[in-house]
Amino acid sequence: MSESGRQELIEEPTPTPGTGQVLVRVHASSLNARDLFMLDGRYPVPPGRVPISDAAGVVEAVGPGVSRFAVGDRVVNSFQPLWFGGPQRKPGRLYHTDIDGWLAEYVAIDEQRLVPMPEHLDFTEAATLPCAAVTAWSALAGVGPGDTVLVQGSGGVSLFALQLARAAGARVIATTSSEKKAARLRELGAGDVINYVDTSEWGAEARKLTDGQGADVIVEVGGAGTIAQSIAAVAYRGTISLVGHVAHDTTGMNLLDFTYSGATLRAIGGGSRSDLEDMNRVITAHRLRPVIDRVFPFKEALDAAAYMESGSHFGKVVISH
Ligand SMILES: NC(=O)c1ccc[n+]([C@@H]2O[C@H](COP(=O)([O-])OP(=O)(O)OC[C@H]3O[C@@H](n4cnc5c(N)ncnc54)[C@H](OP(=O)(O)O)[C@@H]3O)[C@@H](O)[C@H]2O)c1
Repeated sequence: MSESGRQELIEEPTPTPGTGQVLVRVHASSLNARDLFMLDGRYPVPPGRVPISDAAGVVEAVGPGVSRFAVGDRVVNSFQPLWFGGPQRKPGRLYHTDIDGWLAEYVAIDEQRLVPMPEHLDFTEAATLPCAAVTAWSALAGVGPGDTVLVQGSGGVSLFALQLARAAGARVIATTSSEKKAARLRELGAGDVINYVDTSEWGAEARKLTDGQGADVIVEVGGAGTIAQSIAAVAYRGTISLVGHVAHDTTGMNLLDFTYSGATLRAIGGGSRSDLEDMNRVITAHRLRPVIDRVFPFKEALDAAAYMESGSHFGKVVISH
């Protein structure tokens, strides 16, 4: 975005990496729901801020004192640039909102904010990992073989949650609004798919599909509009991992029902560099490949955002730099 708040391409000299920094030639970046809010002004950001939080590229030069990377290394950034691991005591600074993001050809950045890309992935695939995949990873903490995970819809976070839950040996129940997407969710490993438009009481349906037990973990991307169904679907003493707010109505939450569910409601806020590294080990071991819906050229980044806003995507929308 320019000083005037308009979104336009700006030419700047290629930065020189300082002490502890590397110069990354960015090959791909990916969009998340939060980018859309910032690009259309729903979430104000200072003028001149470079958008986008997630990217992958190649180290093209290293500054003095760099020890983690060498020229030619393929890297992906951590979503939270200053959260390296351990418990986070206060909200972190984020790309696009607090510091310049990745919609650029070159970025000079502290080497600590990057990790190596999983070897089997290409740049467009790796660029989808920092926000959506790590959020799904955090939402699934503790999931193992024999557990049932319920994922809502077929957006970026939900598809990663589906793939990572299957890799952990869990059974997955997915919801979606479209029969076409239901078939693709089954191909990705969902054992059962419920159409949440045809079956508005999908919580009861999910409970029926689990012989009355309910889902051990629910990856809640709908928010206030879906939480009542999630409470109906969650296993006694299960967990609802609250990730997002894509469902537009605001039915809200009945606290009495929630108390009887015995469940835990856990707010998820991305993850640390250490979470990204742990997740990448699992993605590598299982040869998981992120689901990419469409790749747009760099100069069509705003079209990519408009396409994602339309809601027709299945998985991630990516920009090739
Ligand atoms: N807390 C965090 O750290 C964090 C991190 C990343 C994202 N988020 C938030 O998580 C949410 C999802 O992000 P995303 O990037 O995955 O978004 P996205 O790719 O835009 O997901 C959109 C999908 O949500 C599904 N959906 C819409 N209404 C629904 C409903 N009533 N019930 C079930 N599914 C519904 C639709 O799936 P179908 O087309 O299949 O119906 C739609 O394709 C957003 O609110 C985002 O801001 C939070």
